[in-house]
Amino acid sequence: MKTKTVAKKTAARNTPAARPFTYKNRTLHCDQVPLTTLADQYGTPLYIYSASQISQRFQLFQQAFDARPHSVCYAVKANSSLAILRLLGRQGAGFDIVSGGELERVRRAHKPALKKVVFSGVGKQAWEIDTALKSNILQFNVESEQELDLLAARAQALKTRARFALRVNPDVFAETHPYISTGLSEHKFGIAITQARAIYRRAARSRWLEPYGVSVHIGSQIRKVDPFAAALERVTSLVAELRRDGRDIRTIDAGGGLGIDYSDAPFDAPHQVDRYAAALAKGLANETAHLLLEPGRFLVAQAGALLTRVLVVKKNGTKTFIITDAAMNDLIRPALYHAHHEIVPVRQPSSKSTITADIVGPVCESGDFFARDRAIASVKPGDLVALLDAGAYGLSLSSNYNSRPRPAEVLVEGEKVTLARRRETMRDLLAPERLN
Ligand code: LLP
Repeated sequence: MKTKTVAKKTAARNTPAARPFTYKNRTLHCDQVPLTTLADQYGTPLYIYSASQISQRFQLFQQAFDARPHSVCYAVKANSSLAILRLLGRQGAGFDIVSGGELERVRRAHKPALKKVVFSGVGKQAWEIDTALKSNILQFNVESEQELDLLAARAQALKTRARFALRVNPDVFAETHPYISTGLSEHKFGIAITQARAIYRRAARSRWLEPYGVSVHIGSQIRKVDPFAAALERVTSLVAELRRDGRDIRTIDAGGGLGIDYSDAPFDAPHQVDRYAAALAKGLANETAHLLLEPGRFLVAQAGALLTRVLVVKKNGTKTFIITDAAMNDLIRPALYHAHHEIVPVRQPSSKSTITADIVGPVCESGDFFARDRAIASVKPGDLVALLDAGAYGLSLSSNYNSRPRPAEVLVEGEKVTLARRRETMRDLLAPERLN
């Protein structure tokens, strides 16, 4: 196990928060707080987030796009904890939402941010559109002609005008897991860019619709930045055509998707954001519309870890299994995408010797694994281990499968710890059910 991973050299502009999980006195800490203390106080499994790292990542985005009018609209789905939404909202973030539920979260976390909300999603319902219209959100990212008709009807019913962008599908390939790639014509997302102009023309005839922007999102966990440039280039030429048609296009929404490194290789976040900003600038050329950005993972993934306790270490035939109290219901990324998460012991081992094991949860599925045939420090029942880079699409993708209560969440800032979500109880789990 390469324990140097969590205490690596910091790159330019990196502060200690660049890697919030580091060993101090041979114990893994988040900022200044030992994970052993958090386990004692809050139990396991436990999601732990570094507030300073989230703020730092947000500020990196702000700085990288400083030169042009822009808004960073954090993609709520990555981690929809109210505490994180409030943290970002207070720093001036807008939000990218995909449901009425996420809209309600923004309202509860930081109401003033409602005016900086963009509403994405391929299947919006009338009640969700109504709530968003009443909340006077910034824009609807519309993904079909049918949705545009529904939006016009709802705006008419509420006697208001809906600002919209068409989410265009640029037919650009971006290398990522097929489940999270969205920018090809074979995907369900967006409207073919070739059809967009005619749809804007039709929409402009409705007094209930205000053509306001163009949006694009080509997928998630994208490491090479060229596809972002290619997609925006196509969007920018569409915007020029729309302007010639007389549409007053104010915003270009570049979506999210910037990837991180889940391995233990050094990760230079400022450099990655700068490369991304340069790629977008290339795609935008002389275009000066207000740029909207929807990063999710990049802001929160590396700020978070899932802390779990080893329950059992057992051998079946030639294989060793480390069974933890966290499972696929708590963090489904390895099961769903074969995603890699570094797994490190909380007590830094004194020797470099490792065992090769599968690290798995107690759920009754063979797909319930965090890592297979992984070299890991020898651990025993009762030891704590941390799954790193789990701040994005961790708890937000969790479930109660096997009737397992969801973990608690804490936000750490320096030495301060705040409970962001208490552990679910049996009562929470059973509350909606009825026995007649
Ligand atoms: N904007 C839209 C319209 C999106 O659909 C998404 C993510 C984002 C922004 C944020 O993308 P990000 O910056 O986080 O890459 N569950 C998967 C990722 C699904 C992404 C879905 N859409 C995972 O765990 O890898």
